[in-house]
Amino acid sequence: MGKVYKIGVIKGDGIGPEIIDEAINILDATASKFGFDLNYEEFLLGGSAIDATGVPLPAETISGVKRVDAVLFGAIGGPKWDNLDRHLRPESGLLGLRKEMGTFANLRPATVYDELINASTLKPNIVQGVDIMVVRELTGGIYFGEPREYSKDVAYNTMVYTREEIVRIGKVAFDIAMKRDKRVCSVEKANVLEVSQLWREVMEEIAEDYPEVELTHLYVDNAAMQLIKEPKQFDVIVTGNIFGDILSDAASMLTGSIGLLPSASTGSKVGLYEPIHGSAPDIAGQGIANPIATISSAAMMLKYAFGELEAADAIENAIKRVLADGYRTGDIGAFDAKEIVSCSEMGSIIANSISKS
Ligand code: IPM
Ligand code: MN
Repeated sequence: MGKVYKIGVIKGDGIGPEIIDEAINILDATASKFGFDLNYEEFLLGGSAIDATGVPLPAETISGVKRVDAVLFGAIGGPKWDNLDRHLRPESGLLGLRKEMGTFANLRPATVYDELINASTLKPNIVQGVDIMVVRELTGGIYFGEPREYSKDVAYNTMVYTREEIVRIGKVAFDIAMKRDKRVCSVEKANVLEVSQLWREVMEEIAEDYPEVELTHLYVDNAAMQLIKEPKQFDVIVTGNIFGDILSDAASMLTGSIGLLPSASTGSKVGLYEPIHGSAPDIAGQGIANPIATISSAAMMLKYAFGELEAADAIENAIKRVLADGYRTGDIGAFDAKEIVSCSEMGSIIANSISKS
């Protein structure tokens, strides 16, 4: 018998179940082609967990994700749960899961597919060849900082980073840069924030251990501008939790649609693989979601969690072939489309392309 990998599956809310189903089809297609076996175990998170258990992050989910090899996650949230107390909202479930799993390094590649060069809102010559890896710190910063408080008269959050947290995310970024174009751009707001001052100092220290890597610094406002102005200047961007959240959404539009961008949350024994987009409640259940971000996240899982590099490449190549053949979901349907397909059709077409290759 070949290798067996255990995958925890969290479908979540909104379009989560539709896109995860397609990613699983693709994973199954690669498993039979490349001779490994996959076991799936489902867990609840977010709104669907609230409906079933009363809390967004049930204890079974926390213990369950510790006994699998990797977790594939769709998306959570929706208007139905928007008025709950903050700690009971779906988003709190996801943040709690990331923290419990210890996945402090969120890798968000923004790669422009040549086949979709016209889908970007920017001019083709600006985006062609863009290949950026955003390394977002995921379990610290203002998302988790204490103290935090809300009242009708005053509310606050705290942006806090320890040296240790900055060192470990910095090393991840530099290690990735060593396998790429050897350039790291650290993004913060050191002209205003003490926490960013420490961030910058620590990045400089880490750089001493990586003489081959060029380190630059940008303030986050300038970084946002540069991403739109001249995105090809970037190789690896390393940044804190909230800046990474914002910049990765911006970077996604270089590629044409946020429905294309995968992510891998790593740094711990078990990684979490999820598209960067949300649950899109407005289009949920219509079968029009773009499954490519989730399929691509599954490819990242094969690569980073299981070391199945050939299988991961097979998925990425199949996505490119299918896009080159002119198949498009609605979000990218206006650009060089031969045929507009549904979420499940897109999944099947990519799966077939893998099996045939
Ligand atoms: C993301 C999302 C989450 C985040 C939300 C849903 C909590 O926007 O994964 O980028 O802010 O991290
Ligand atoms: Mn986000």
